[in-house]
Amino acid sequence: MASLMTVRGDPTTGRTTTSWSNGLPASRSQVVDFVGCSYLGLDNHPAIIAGAIEAIEVHRSLQWSHARTRLNFDPLGELEDILSGIFCARVLAFSSGMLANLGAMPILASGQLTGGSKPLVVFDQSAQISLAYHKPVVAAETRVETIGHNDIDALEGLCRDNSVVVYVCDGVCSAGGYSPIKELRQLQERYGLFLYIDDSHGISIFGDRGEGFARPQFPHVLGERTIISASLSKGFGASGGVLMLGAADHEELFRRHSLPYAASMAPNLAAIGAAIASCKIHRSAELGQRQRRLKQRIDLFDRRVATAEQCNSFPIRTIAIGSETNAIAIAKGLLDCGFYTSVAVFPTPGMARIRVCITAEHEVRDIERLCDGILQKTTETTGKPYPLR
Ligand SMILES: Cc1ncc(COP(=O)(O)O)c(C=O)c1O
Repeated sequence: MASLMTVRGDPTTGRTTTSWSNGLPASRSQVVDFVGCSYLGLDNHPAIIAGAIEAIEVHRSLQWSHARTRLNFDPLGELEDILSGIFCARVLAFSSGMLANLGAMPILASGQLTGGSKPLVVFDQSAQISLAYHKPVVAAETRVETIGHNDIDALEGLCRDNSVVVYVCDGVCSAGGYSPIKELRQLQERYGLFLYIDDSHGISIFGDRGEGFARPQFPHVLGERTIISASLSKGFGASGGVLMLGAADHEELFRRHSLPYAASMAPNLAAIGAAIASCKIHRSAELGQRQRRLKQRIDLFDRRVATAEQCNSFPIRTIAIGSETNAIAIAKGLLDCGFYTSVAVFPTPGMARIRVCITAEHEVRDIERLCDGILQKTTETTGKPYPLR
């Protein structure tokens, strides 16, 4: 996988990258990126770059060396207020999605969010690593179970047998697919299930203000039994992470006891300025235009290449190859043609897939050429036509 992994490059306009550190194929001066998750193409939006620069210039600082339990930049409070309006929840901002999850997991395990009773914490098997990584920390405090992906029956069984249950999952899954929020909400209503949903791949791309996939499926008041987390560095196009909370006492608890408040860095001023600028785009007509461009591009891909995700409206598509060796060979072949895709080999051996992230900024002709490349390279490598059976 050498030429596909840990690459260094220089972004140009749109989705192209130059100066590939592992060496570009001889005939190429640039590569089109289908790995990055900037689904609306906001990451190099001039207003977001300008917002980052302006925040540093106005406040003459990048980072304060203070714990957030002590002193916080004024604009961080402003950002949290604007995000609270967008997501209709009390929003706390962190310097990454990973840190938002890291701060939440021990608090979930402690029982402080579930009336003082330590819960059984159930992880979806496909929960992204920034959630799954914390299982040992949670297990040091309370019981942990992992169930199959979207296995609602197994979850219901655990809810029946245990008085306090927390379920941790992705809203839109980073490896394709999504969580059945309607069914999860039914379990919440029936058994008081506490839901912790990471919607990093869902925010911005859905909703009039980019509320995301998960948030609109909950009532106007999020309530005491749901937390939604998200990264601000994917569709949102900036940098950082958020927790959407539904109760004032939860906010107080997190501001006192969540680890990133006591240690590690707060979002820096560039990140805050960029995020405030992105919020302005989220509250303008441009958001809807970008969401529509994204949908057109997903539809175009789906008309040419069949995937298990074809019937959903999310921007992640996975090409089922099976053999790891073949998947790597196909991804290298696509790179030779100027398209950077990623190979997913986790969690099941022998079920390797090529992952394609579609964005609003991809040129139509690049998507068409990528699709032709996928069909051609798969046949050349495996000797069989795609889709492989
Ligand atoms: C579902 C999910 N949650 C959280 C993260 C981490 O976000 P960040 O990069 O902001 O730390 C990722 C990143 O890949 C992700 O896919």
